Amino acid sequence: MVCLGNICRSPLAEGILRNKIQQLELDWTIDSAGTGAWHIGECPDSRSIAIAAKNSIDISMQRARQFKPSDWNDFDLIFAMDSSNYKNILRTAPSEEYHDKLAMIMNLVHPNANQNVPDPYWDDNGFEQVFEMLSIACDALIDKYA
Ligand code: 4NP
Repeated sequence: MVCLGNICRSPLAEGILRNKIQQLELDWTIDSAGTGAWHIGECPDSRSIAIAAKNSIDISMQRARQFKPSDWNDFDLIFAMDSSNYKNILRTAPSEEYHDKLAMIMNLVHPNANQNVPDPYWDDNGFEQVFEMLSIACDALIDKYA
């Protein structure tokens, strides 16, 4: 799960998906990262921690990291939160053969629509919507791949 800072959207995506797969007893490795380096080592944004906690999910132990080229080999699937993340991740692919691993996460719900998960960093009210979008997307992800 990849966004820009790895403190708002992708930590929520990681926490939501992990919570769902634990309930289903699926043995998946899930992680998140940011394309940017500004927040490396930081906890998720307090507003992401709060909306997750409101939904009985603890993401407070996560620490931000930057997406790295080896992630292309370490993971089967890579989900970008928005089109900017998508472009920035795609250009780090080792070769074109890897491109099929990458998708925009909301395309799981609305195929080919390339809908962005809006960046909530500057919008205190955006976190509820982000949580709902990611929860629906993670359900679709599980329906498709579990
Ligand atoms: P995220 O949100 O990509 O969902 O983690 C952001 C976090 C930080 C910044 C931008 C977006 N920033 O500009 O520092």
